[in-house]
Amino acid sequence: MTKRIVVLISGSGSNLQAIIDNCQSDAIAGEVVGVISNRPGVFGLERAENAGVSNQVVDHKAYNSREEYDPVLQQAIDAYQPDIIVLAGFMRILTPGFVQHYQGRMLNIHPSLLPKYQGLNTHQRAIDAGDQEHGVSVHFVTEELDGGPVVLQAKVPIFAEDSSDDLAARVHQQEHRIYPLVVGWMCQERLEMGSEGTTSFAVLDGNKLPAQGYAAN
Ligand code: GAR
Repeated sequence: MTKRIVVLISGSGSNLQAIIDNCQSDAIAGEVVGVISNRPGVFGLERAENAGVSNQVVDHKAYNSREEYDPVLQQAIDAYQPDIIVLAGFMRILTPGFVQHYQGRMLNIHPSLLPKYQGLNTHQRAIDAGDQEHGVSVHFVTEELDGGPVVLQAKVPIFAEDSSDDLAARVHQQEHRIYPLVVGWMCQERLEMGSEGTTSFAVLDGNKLPAQGYAAN
C-alpha cells in the first residue's frame, strides 16, 4: 500500500523536491499528499504547486506561543491522514505533545554528524572547530531537539578553503541521496523506532541500529 507522506518545510524545499521526485519515479512506495510551511512565500510551496501537491501555510506568526501553534499545525497535518511526517528544513522547535502524537512516524534531517552540532549554523561551527569531515543525519524525532535516534548519516570532507556555503552545498547533495532512501525504508515498513525504558533506537529490517545509524561509513 502506498504510504501517505506529509512534508513540513520553512524554506527552499530542495529535500522536499528530492522526495517528490523519488515518489513520482516510484523509487519510493509513497505519495506526498500534503506540504505545510510555517512561512509564507517560500520556494518550497512553489515546488509543491508545480508538482500538483496540496500545500498550505500555517504561519507561526499568527500565534502567541508554541502551545497555541502546534495543535493548529497538528490538525492541518492530520487532515491529510498521513502515515509518515517528514521534516525537511522545518525550522521550528516542537512541543512535547506534538512530538508524542507522531512518535515513530516523524523523521528529520539535520545538517551535521549528530550528536555533533545540534541546533543552528552547523556548517560554520564544523569549519571553526577545524573538523576535517562533516555531514548530515536523518533521525527519528523525539522530544530532545536534534536528539532522536539516527537512522542514516552521510559524510563529506571539509577542505581548507571551504566557506560555509561551499560546505552547505556539498552536504545538500548528500541530503538529497539519503533522505529519499530513509523515507523509502519507512514506506516499505522496513524501518521503525524501538525503545527500551527511556532509550529509543532505530530498527531496520529487525536489526537495532547503532548510535550513528546504518553503515555510518
Ligand atoms: C537542509 O540543509 C536541512 O538539513 C536543514 O535545512 C536545510 C533545508 O534545505 N535542516 C535543519 O537545519 C534542521 N535543523 P531545503 O529547504 O532546501 O530542503
